[in-house]
Amino acid sequence: MNFNITSSKLKDIKSDLEIIIVIDKNLQHKTVKDKKLLKKAGFTGSQDELCHLIGKKRLYVGAENLKSAAIRAAVATAMRSLTGKKAYKTVKIAAYVSHPRCSASIRAIAEGAILGSYTYTEYKSKKLKSPVKTLELSLEGYEAHEITMEVAARAVHNGEIAAEATNYTRNIVNTPPDDFYPESMAKKAKKLAKELGLGCDILNPKALKKEKMHTLLAVARASRHDPCVIHLSHKPKHAKKVITLVGKGLTYDSGGLSLKPGDYMVTMKADKSGASAVIGIMKAIAEMNLPIEVHGFLGMVENMIGGDAYKPDDVLTAKNGKTIEVRNTDAEGRLVLADVLCYAQQEVKADYIFDLATLTGACVVGVGHYTSGIMGFSDEVKALVGRQAKISGELATALDFNPYLAKTIKSDIADLCNISNTRYGGAVTAGLFLSEFIDKDHKEKWAHIDIAGPAFVEHVWGENPSGASGAGVRMVLRLLESLAREQAAH
Ligand code: BES
Ligand code: ZN
Ligand code: ZN
Repeated sequence: MNFNITSSKLKDIKSDLEIIIVIDKNLQHKTVKDKKLLKKAGFTGSQDELCHLIGKKRLYVGAENLKSAAIRAAVATAMRSLTGKKAYKTVKIAAYVSHPRCSASIRAIAEGAILGSYTYTEYKSKKLKSPVKTLELSLEGYEAHEITMEVAARAVHNGEIAAEATNYTRNIVNTPPDDFYPESMAKKAKKLAKELGLGCDILNPKALKKEKMHTLLAVARASRHDPCVIHLSHKPKHAKKVITLVGKGLTYDSGGLSLKPGDYMVTMKADKSGASAVIGIMKAIAEMNLPIEVHGFLGMVENMIGGDAYKPDDVLTAKNGKTIEVRNTDAEGRLVLADVLCYAQQEVKADYIFDLATLTGACVVGVGHYTSGIMGFSDEVKALVGRQAKISGELATALDFNPYLAKTIKSDIADLCNISNTRYGGAVTAGLFLSEFIDKDHKEKWAHIDIAGPAFVEHVWGENPSGASGAGVRMVLRLLESLAREQAAH
């Protein structure tokens, strides 16, 4: 999609359609030219409500307010409604700037347009796609808001990068498990690294053994696909901050011998969402050329059953020497991440470590399908992630650790147990398990983000399609952008 930013008047811009966002429920605002028709159609202007006046070439969409989140979702909803309607090649829209010198709405429009145009048609015989080739964005009427062309162009550019990276991640997550396994991610990483000049190291099973990543290897053992750990790096000159990202990449989670019931197993191709988000983020930061050093570690494994499968009752030794009693092979993500977190800290001394994982069903039970859980020891780091998530348009909330839950993952026969002895607080106990693999000097610099809820939802919500949402990409990208700005200011 091409974005054309212009100061021309909206009425002078040629297009197949105008998208008009309605904030005023009484339809009094001057941009609402078809008040009577809208009233007749029963349009109330609620968030994401649509009214397409075909003859007038106007598509009205409701929004709660002028904040970025509402605008992004409204634009996405409007764009999505055009899927398969070939006539709409050029669409125009106003910039909806709400504050002087604030280009947030412009980025939100660009993001919404690209996120809302996403379709996953790889396996469809008939591929319905977005017809929109050009979006004309008019700054008319916002002269007083002092948005220069340059500022608007940068907002669009960054919005495009963020949204394209999100769609890239969505494609990976949506790909069926027989067509996407650990090696597929290695291939993608190599290709991306070559295109964007990223560093790319891939650890095969031999290297994983040498690195003593035995818990990861145990989870992978029953699969016909070899596991791998992928290390992508973005190292600009003069970078002052170093950030490590770690992603859970279970290309399929059958549960292993603690087999998932049939209806819980469906959608477990999405258990690679953490790693898929990390590769999407690496793509975006390279394209933005952020002046910070970022390392992405992806733990790619398939959790299957078979004669060679790891078992409940096994005791495994993680890379840092801690022993783990396995009582449930479906709590495999934490085993994979334990080793990858250790490896990441051995390889890179970072200022911040963030891990992304579809780690627990308990997180979905706790906060619902749309929200990620943020865990860690530092209130500041958790708050930082939460703030940037909100700006990005993602929902995330802190889930605090406590010493009582920390005791519930002790084992009688090993250092730790891979499940808790209480049925409650499963998201937090999984986070506490990971914390056992964070070195002392990294403890206050680490946050774990459980994206099990939002990563894959089987209906449309806001700017997200049914299926993979690309959860984590926009949130962590905003976080990295803010850390890069902070660095520049010092
Ligand atoms: N991949 C799942 C978590 C999950 C559940 C992600 C639902 C997305 C949607 C994870 O590996 C898992 O199975 N966790 C278990 C842990 C339990 C055995 C302690 C769970 O949440 O039930
Ligand atoms: Zn599992
Ligand atoms: Zn899993």
